[in-house]
Amino acid sequence: MKTQIAIIGAGPSGLLLGQLLHNAGIDTVIIERQSPDYVLGRIRAGVLEQGMVDLLREAGVGERMDREGLVHDGFELAFNDRVEHINLRELTGGKTVMIYGQTEVTRDLMQARRASGAPTCYDASDVQLHELKGEKPYVTFVQDGTPVRLDCDLIAGCDGYHGVSRKSIPDGVLKAFERVYPFGWLGVLADTPPVNEELIYASHERGFALCSMRSPTRTRYYVQVASDEKVEDWSDQRFWDELKSRLPEPIAAKLITGPSIEKSIAPLRSFVVEPMQYGHLFLVGDAAHIVPPTGAKGLNLAASDVSTLYRILLKYYREGRQDLLEQYSQICLRRVWIAERFSWWMTSILHQFPGTDAFTQRMQQAELEYFVSTEAGRTSIAENYVGLPYEPVE
Ligand code: APR
Ligand code: PHB
Repeated sequence: MKTQIAIIGAGPSGLLLGQLLHNAGIDTVIIERQSPDYVLGRIRAGVLEQGMVDLLREAGVGERMDREGLVHDGFELAFNDRVEHINLRELTGGKTVMIYGQTEVTRDLMQARRASGAPTCYDASDVQLHELKGEKPYVTFVQDGTPVRLDCDLIAGCDGYHGVSRKSIPDGVLKAFERVYPFGWLGVLADTPPVNEELIYASHERGFALCSMRSPTRTRYYVQVASDEKVEDWSDQRFWDELKSRLPEPIAAKLITGPSIEKSIAPLRSFVVEPMQYGHLFLVGDAAHIVPPTGAKGLNLAASDVSTLYRILLKYYREGRQDLLEQYSQICLRRVWIAERFSWWMTSILHQFPGTDAFTQRMQQAELEYFVSTEAGRTSIAENYVGLPYEPVE
C-alpha cells in the first residue's frame, strides 16, 4: 500500500486530520489498533473551544454539532458556599464554548471518513514505524493475520499517550516534562437533567467536584478521589451523596439523581514532550501532551495541533514549503505550554492536595478569591477557558 500521509490512531486527532487532508485532495491511510465500537465506547470530555468548533465546520463535520451542541456563554465557580459566574462572552469580547461530547465528535468524524471512501484500517496489530530519519518512511502492521506495508511521505502520530509513535523515537531525543497529581476524578454519566444550565466547578474542603453535561437530558458529574480509590467501592448512592456534600446547599437541593450509565476513575497528569517532531514523524494530540481535565483543554489542544499540521501540509504539498515542516513543533509547543499552565493552575486552585500545610491552604483560597473578584482575574480565566487563538502558519 502507498499513501501520502500515514495517520496512526483513529481518535479525534487522527480522524480530524484525515478529514481535512482528504477534503484538500491529500491521500491518507489511518491505522487504528482498536475496533470502531471500542473507540466510540470511551467517554471523554465535552467542552469545545471556538477554534475547534470552527475547525470542525471547516472539515465539513459541524452540522450535527451546530444542531445538537449547547452554546455556553459562561460557567460557575463555587467555593465557600458562594457561586461566582464567569461570563465568557462578556469577558472575551463575544467568545463562547460549545458543549458537545468527544464521543459525538468522533462519531461524526467516523461517519464522514466512511462516506469519503478514504481507508481506515481498524483492528491493526503490531503497528511499527520505520525509516523515520531515512529517505522514505513506512509503516508495517498486521491485519486479519496478514502483514501489511504502507509506504508514505510523512507519518502523523495521532495514537494517544499509550501509542507506538512517541515510543518509536530513539532514547535521548525527547525531553519529557511531567507532573502526576495525588488524586483522580471519579466520573459518572447519567440520563438525568443537568442541575444547572452552565457547568459548575466546585472547590470544597471534601475535594473538588464538577457538574457537566452532554445534553439537556444527559449529565456528566465528577468528584475528586484519592489516587488509590477503586471504582467498585463507589455505589451510585455513595457517589451522589458525595457530590451533593461538595456543592453549595441550594444547588445540592436541586440535584436530580439516577442510575449511572458509566462510572470510571481517571488519574490526573500533566505531560509534555519536546520536540513534537522527529524526522518524518509528527506527534499530534495526546501522543505529545496530556493535561489534567480541569481546564477542559485535552481535546482542544489536539485540535490546535491538527490545525497547525494541516496548514503546514497544505503549504508543503501546494507550494513546496519544506521549511515549514521544521516549524511544526515550535508553533504547537507555544500554545501547548500556555494550555498546560492553565490546566495546572485550575487544578491547583480547585483541588484539595493531601498533606498541604495551613499557609498553603490560605494561599490557595486567596488566589481563588483574588481571581474571581477582580476584572483582571476573571478576564484571565475567561480568555484561557475559551482558548487562545491559533497561531497562523506563514
Ligand atoms: N497503533 C494504532 N493505533 C493506536 C496505537 C497503535 N499502536 N496505540 C493507540 N492507538 C489508537 C487508540 O486506540 C486511539 O483510538 O490511537 C487513538 C488515540 O486516540 P486518543 O487517545 O483519543 O488521542 P487523540 O486523538 O490525540 O485525542 C485527544 O483529548 O480530551 C482528550 O484524552 C482526550 O482522547 C482525547 C484527546
Ligand atoms: C466533561 O464534560 O466531561 C468535562 C467538562 C469540563 C471539564 C472536564 C470534563 O473541565
